[in-house]
Amino acid sequence: MLPDSTALLSAPTASASTSWLTRYHAVRHQSVALCQPLLPEDTVVQPMLDVSPPKWHLAHMSWFFETFLLREYLPGYTLFHPEYAYLFNSYYNSLGSRVNRADRGTISRPPLADVYAYRAYVDEHMAQLLATADTLPPAFAEVFELGLQHEQQHQELLATDIKYILSTSPLAPAYLPAIDQATSHEAAPPVAWLPVPGGVQRIGYEGTGFCFDNEQAPHDTYITDFELQNRLVTNGEFLEFIEAGAYADFRYWLGEGWDLVQREGWQAPLYWVQKEGQWHRFTHHGLQPVNPAAPVTHVSFYEADAYANWRGHRLPTEQEWEIAARHFQPETADGTFLESGLYDPQPLAPDADPTQCHQLLGDAWEWTYSAYHAYPGYQRTAGALGEYNGKFMVNQLVLRGGSCATPESHIRLTYRNFFHADKRWQFTGIRLAR
Ligand SMILES: [Fe+2]
Repeated sequence: MLPDSTALLSAPTASASTSWLTRYHAVRHQSVALCQPLLPEDTVVQPMLDVSPPKWHLAHMSWFFETFLLREYLPGYTLFHPEYAYLFNSYYNSLGSRVNRADRGTISRPPLADVYAYRAYVDEHMAQLLATADTLPPAFAEVFELGLQHEQQHQELLATDIKYILSTSPLAPAYLPAIDQATSHEAAPPVAWLPVPGGVQRIGYEGTGFCFDNEQAPHDTYITDFELQNRLVTNGEFLEFIEAGAYADFRYWLGEGWDLVQREGWQAPLYWVQKEGQWHRFTHHGLQPVNPAAPVTHVSFYEADAYANWRGHRLPTEQEWEIAARHFQPETADGTFLESGLYDPQPLAPDADPTQCHQLLGDAWEWTYSAYHAYPGYQRTAGALGEYNGKFMVNQLVLRGGSCATPESHIRLTYRNFFHADKRWQFTGIRLAR
């Protein structure tokens, strides 16, 4: 994000103004569309710390445009409401005090209707601002692009937070009507190990488009030859791990993971429940039977690592993942993204070529065995936006590749997502290396 050395967008022109506005409306519309199936009551609750209420997301995304663009670049702009910065600032210490993250579910007022009015107000003023694109400095283009990418990040969070919120209701309501899975594949293509050449290789973002600051700076890294599995680990393969009693066998687990499994009583991935002797999963389409051919998801790093140990293999490092991805050059058409409306990783066709690497982009984020820290040459952006990524570079693991809840235009081979090792509410999956 905002590296000084990278021109994210060229100087604005009248046509750029029109295309920026079109893109702005498309991205903003996607957020509202995601919330359409919800009742107002669904948008207020916060059943755990990591999950923010959808109403809060809708307001916070608007606060971002208001704070970093309208206040900075639109002369005479008047805030929609003077208290909204306190309510909807997420974590920017540079911007003052705010509601504690754990208390977002207590924000019963303003009502949802006011939050939609706030969005409309921000959209109206963003349209005014974008109409003056030819007078805006280059720095505007960079922050504008960041605002769109930020909104897309929150769209993924909306999809996963909505799932968690509905799953905690005793009524277990479906977000969307159940889909017919009869045509879904019930067998995955066989596992194959694909060789990846080692040596000194380049990683980090080198293009001329947008990237986050944590993908900077591109640099050389050394890896040894290794092999990567051709696809994600499936539910059926993970079920073998469960049925072998591995959740109850300390030998496969990191100490912290074993303690957590004991404390929480974990016996399967998040959302898995047994019903009449069969494993089911809570999904956006309600409770569904586990499809053995689909990628396993909603596993923590600890479960991913224990599974790899049980198989006698390991997780890739993030360097290995990116070098393999550059080597295999996956097509986004291969993956499932937010726009599919499926909200679930999809099974590969059983006859998918096992010599090709599948599902690198989309479907499920892949846990790597790499700590999330700064690349050599990383420079934190000056000002409040320097808090966007840099301050989280401790005690988290990197995940790669995007998921079925990631907007397709948001993902890159160099994209570095990060979560703490115990997190399971995102669409997190497993790919093995050796
Ligand atoms: Fe945010």
